[in-house]
Amino acid sequence: MSNGLHQFPRPKGSLLLGNTFDFAKDPLGFLTHCAEDYGELVPLRFLFSSACLLTQPEHIEHVLKHPELFTKNTPAWQAVRSLVGDGLLTSEGSFWSRQRRLMQPVFHQQHIAAYGETMVLYADRMLQTWQEGDVCDIHQAMMQLTLNIVTKTLFNVDMAGATAQTIAQTLEVAMEWFSSRRQQAFLPLTGLPTPINRRYKQALQTMDQAIYALIQQRRQSGDNPGDLLSLLLQAQDEDGSRMSDRQLRDELSTLILAGHETTANALSWVWMLLAQNPPVERKLMGELGTVLGDRSPTLADLPQLRYTEQIIKEALRLYPPLFSLARSPIQDYDLDGYHIPTGYILLFSPWVMHRSARYFTNPLQFQPERWEHDLEKQLPKGVYFPFGDGPRVCMGKSFALMEAVLLLATIAQKWQLTLLPDQLLAPLPSMTLRPKAGITVRLTKRIATH
Ligand code: HEM
Repeated sequence: MSNGLHQFPRPKGSLLLGNTFDFAKDPLGFLTHCAEDYGELVPLRFLFSSACLLTQPEHIEHVLKHPELFTKNTPAWQAVRSLVGDGLLTSEGSFWSRQRRLMQPVFHQQHIAAYGETMVLYADRMLQTWQEGDVCDIHQAMMQLTLNIVTKTLFNVDMAGATAQTIAQTLEVAMEWFSSRRQQAFLPLTGLPTPINRRYKQALQTMDQAIYALIQQRRQSGDNPGDLLSLLLQAQDEDGSRMSDRQLRDELSTLILAGHETTANALSWVWMLLAQNPPVERKLMGELGTVLGDRSPTLADLPQLRYTEQIIKEALRLYPPLFSLARSPIQDYDLDGYHIPTGYILLFSPWVMHRSARYFTNPLQFQPERWEHDLEKQLPKGVYFPFGDGPRVCMGKSFALMEAVLLLATIAQKWQLTLLPDQLLAPLPSMTLRPKAGITVRLTKRIATH
């Protein structure tokens, strides 16, 4: 016999809107307050849907481990779907598992090893355009760099000029649109001809044209460089049918979105945290000096760049690019003795768990050293999950970690980034956790000491 959720204390909301307004106004603050002040399950109500915040690691782990029992189909997810369609991030069931099996090999360790050189090469190219004393928004710079890297490594396309601009602009509009959708509690208002809805629709059309052109070019050239695009083009069902252009478009736009926005945000927060913590920066420079001297990093250096990697892990702890995940039980579900009805939205937040004093000492401090001695393995599952977990764990996890370490090392070796004073440095919880007003830095060339 299971218990209902009604026994759990919950944050007060308005009679009509429930907790919609508080969540929309400040999702990070609201979820943190719920976790700190209520129980292991915190019932919530958003306009037309009931939800529940999970704060017990075992519950989170259980939900992530069982995609066959919990769907991703929630209102926020439908908004993501309108951008990337039925790609790997959003599809489900046997269709998802077939696509995942198909694409997984491209992300295996031995395959992504070859991408390391491209990552360093593209970072160096960017650095060649930097001038001593320049002021730049490092978030924009990271967005451009990771976009160029993901399209070159996965689709063998040098995203120079117009196509890159088109995709970058679409994603900017999409993020703005998503924030406005969140503020409207994901009500089904997408059809209304509001200025932001119109701009979003237009941007989507433009992005589609760019991606279809990319597919077309590859079909016509008949090239097979063994990248993800050729793999997708060759893939056949048992009945011999190939992926439609629409499906190819969905998978490509998914990987472009998932593969650059997240990593760019993670690196942007790294630069902010480093500039705010000079002792960490000094220790990083010490490691780069010892391991690399003046040469560029390669894949072979990764095992030695341990502190560099700890910095990335710690930035992902404090600023997880996907700050909250959600699932919904496909059928009424008994979660550890509690009855969760179908359609309930189960929310769980890396932001909340990563900053919990129950699991981390000085949780709000940036201390990369905490990751020494394999802290990650000692933490219960469901506490630190910047890449999700279970069968639907981020497919690009190794790719992203390798990229983040190589880019941090390549850039920090040659340039110091200092924050300009008096700027707003705050996260904007949109589809991902991005800096609200960018991160403006001054660039100073480091003098080689080796
Ligand atoms: C720091 C960088 C990244 C972070 C923090 C991140 C985070 C995540 C998270 C949390 C999920 C699971 C979402 C959920 O369970 O609801 C996910 C899924 C996914 N990510 Fe990443 N990601 C990153 C980089 C990448 C990169 C570089 C790629 C590809 C090049 C990528 C491709 C994907 C894909 C395809 C999925 C869907 C997997 C599936 O459902 O089978 N991600 N990512």
